[in-house]
Amino acid sequence: MKFKAPRGMRDYYPDAMAARNWIMERWHRVSLRNGFEEYDGPIMEELDLFRVKSGEGIVSELFHFADRGGREMAIRPEMTPTLARMVAARANALRKPIKWYSVPRLCRAERPQRGRLREFFQWNIDILGEDDILADAECIFVAIDFFRDIGLTPEQVVMKISSRSVLAAILRINGFAEERLEAVYATLDKRDKLAPEEFSKLIETLGVPEPQEQLLLKLGEAKGPEGITMLGEMVGQDPEGNQEVDNLERLFDLLGDMGVGPYCLFDMGVVRGLAYYTGPVFEAFGKGGLQRAICGGGRYGELLKTVGGPPMSGVGFGSSDVVIADLLKEFNLLPDLSPVTAVFVIDADPRNPTLFKRVLSITAELRRRNITASYSYRRQGIGKQFKQANDRNARRVIIVEEATLTDNTVSVKDMGTGVQQPLALEAVLDDPFQPLEPA
Ligand code: HAM
Repeated sequence: MKFKAPRGMRDYYPDAMAARNWIMERWHRVSLRNGFEEYDGPIMEELDLFRVKSGEGIVSELFHFADRGGREMAIRPEMTPTLARMVAARANALRKPIKWYSVPRLCRAERPQRGRLREFFQWNIDILGEDDILADAECIFVAIDFFRDIGLTPEQVVMKISSRSVLAAILRINGFAEERLEAVYATLDKRDKLAPEEFSKLIETLGVPEPQEQLLLKLGEAKGPEGITMLGEMVGQDPEGNQEVDNLERLFDLLGDMGVGPYCLFDMGVVRGLAYYTGPVFEAFGKGGLQRAICGGGRYGELLKTVGGPPMSGVGFGSSDVVIADLLKEFNLLPDLSPVTAVFVIDADPRNPTLFKRVLSITAELRRRNITASYSYRRQGIGKQFKQANDRNARRVIIVEEATLTDNTVSVKDMGTGVQQPLALEAVLDDPFQPLEPA
């Protein structure tokens, strides 16, 4: 019987692992330079944590099971409820603002497709305990800081920003009942995933009067600075609505001051599927062939309260390795990650066992000095050993020869330039990459 990796889940052969590590190193680097501290939580949580907090979209995608004690558990499909639970438990003791990041492995029972798998790593950035829109701007800045770090330009990626609180104000002004909002958000979130006729049909299923239907269709089209002006007109004199529109304008001003304006676009079509968002929401998309969101987040005002914590609001986002890797491939941004052997040690005469003993001791000494060093496991001719050094991308080759036994010298060859020079072994161990003089 043959087995393969479960549907929508990946094996990481070394080349795939190198790409995953490359992305993750940048997640860590960008998080740390923006002042975030790393945290983690358990791989599973009680099912109810997600049932209550994330909303229907995610709950239908949960891998869940009863543990031996009959408790309903779920493998984490996202990190935010765990974060809220952890912060709520120590809310008073934690220094504010709380700036935390995490890189959890998540599982969602989605239909696997390009950019969406059943198991993935998701970089999470969150700021809690700061209500000012500056925290929202900071989070968006961090996402874009990462995009820039991996070489994505505003021509290749766009951060679409919207606001659930502006949307809520407009819906309230137009007579939508508070309890209908979640259903309306879930419907509007499907706009970009459906053809226009299908979307209109979905709007009809909400069962709202014709003018309200028209409003929902029109709202989804508001884009760019003119879109924000249009929202300003829609809220009219409503004080709360005005406040929310001002906030949105300030967010764009701050992003401009931070120098990431060219990546950002106001787009009321972004609503987000998760139930807990209450303020600005944002989602980034590649501008090439990949249609899926590469990052998504927003402000959640009530989440901590619903897990028994204080009324502390937070803002953050998640972005996965799957979509980032697709984008890197699409725009040819992933560098050559083939493994590099810094030094390959060769014996000049495979018939002389004493030389091989020196190969082993020199290799061990290089490794002790934290230099990646290798040698051939087979005693074979020097040509074959050089070929192996080449296959391993060796930068330098050290040739152990008769002179090594008599006066402790070795020949060193630079595999890039082809220059070879005899040198004292001690000097080579101290600096294997010293400049070589052509003979
Ligand atoms: P989300 O929109 O469900 O939000 O996911 C955020 C990002 O995770 C997506 O934009 C996508 O890059 C990636 N992602 C989601 N599902 C999959 C999948 N099946 N395969 C590959 N990648 C996927 C959240 O998860 C929120 N908890 C984010 C957040 C953090 N909000 C505030 N803080």
